[in-house]
Amino acid sequence: MGEQDDVAFVRDRFRENAKYFDREPVLIAALGFRRLRRFVAAEAQGVTLEVAVGTGLNLPYYPRGIALTGIDLSPEMLSYAAARARQLGIPVNLLEGDAAALPFPDQSFDTVIETFSGCTFPDPVAAYREMRRVLRPGGQLLLAEHGRGDRSLVGRLLDRFAPGHYRSTACHLNRSPLDLVKAAGWQPQVLHRGAAGVLIALRATV
Ligand SMILES: C[S@@+](CC[C@H](N)C(=O)[O-])C[C@H]1O[C@@H](n2cnc3c(N)ncnc32)[C@H](O)[C@@H]1O
Repeated sequence: MGEQDDVAFVRDRFRENAKYFDREPVLIAALGFRRLRRFVAAEAQGVTLEVAVGTGLNLPYYPRGIALTGIDLSPEMLSYAAARARQLGIPVNLLEGDAAALPFPDQSFDTVIETFSGCTFPDPVAAYREMRRVLRPGGQLLLAEHGRGDRSLVGRLLDRFAPGHYRSTACHLNRSPLDLVKAAGWQPQVLHRGAAGVLIALRATV
């Protein structure tokens, strides 16, 4: 599958699954996903970009007064995010676009945030490089991710389910977010690990 095919596949999966993602299943939230969203979003400052904003599940957790832009490949996911922003009364500039080719000038943001989406990026290293390009000197990258984790039993279990899960959701269960972020030139600080090492929160600065 070529890069463009992957992008089309991801867009297709999220068109189908937008309604499901918008509800964030109780089990997923209970595993610690919601707690990590709250944790990283609360750290946003100044002019902020959320990459792969999805249905806007992080919107309730941002501090008031930041200037927020959200970008995503999927128009269906963005339409849920727009509805959530309206309902919460949160001003946010929502755009359709690809994380691997962000439509912003260099050094335009004080904070770039991304949660639980690196698993779906067709080219995650390119996306993390783009996040670096658009951050201002002194700016921060904040990530909450899930991955293969650091326990071999859990990792092997995730390897087993990964291909089928990818076909239905476009999500790779067994990536290593830390390695991907480092491969893009970042030197991240681990803020949190949870759920047998599967969940991770990272901060990196430029
Ligand atoms: C699992 S959802 C997570 C959404 C949101 N970040 C959250 O935490 O709820 C993954 C999102 O990444 C988006 N996505 C995947 N690849 C992308 C890319 N290359 N550029 C922009 N968005 C992308 C999908 O459309 C989807 O909305």
